[in-house]
Amino acid sequence: MKALDIPAGQGAAGKVGTRPVAVYNTGKGLTVLENICTHMKCQTQWNSAERSWDCPCHGSRYHPEGGVLQGPAKRPLPALEYHLENDEIVLEE
Ligand code: FES
Repeated sequence: MKALDIPAGQGAAGKVGTRPVAVYNTGKGLTVLENICTHMKCQTQWNSAERSWDCPCHGSRYHPEGGVLQGPAKRPLPALEYHLENDEIVLEE
């Protein structure tokens, strides 16, 4: 997944290897989250109008940087450590 493809203030859901990630460009850097809803493990989708990660399964919504905006989820999407290699996101684990 390429970092340059995500404009500042926007996010994109995708995969790094087999791992689902939710990547937000803060304008100063990227926030890379594990894209597994903490309610029942669906994958969220980026909502560009509201700038949130929205879960299609039961309506949970998350802040671009992972915090819960609306339940039923109670826990944030976890942040993942990463680095960039030729603009590709590489997870640390
Ligand atoms: S799995 Fe995401 S809201 Fe239930």
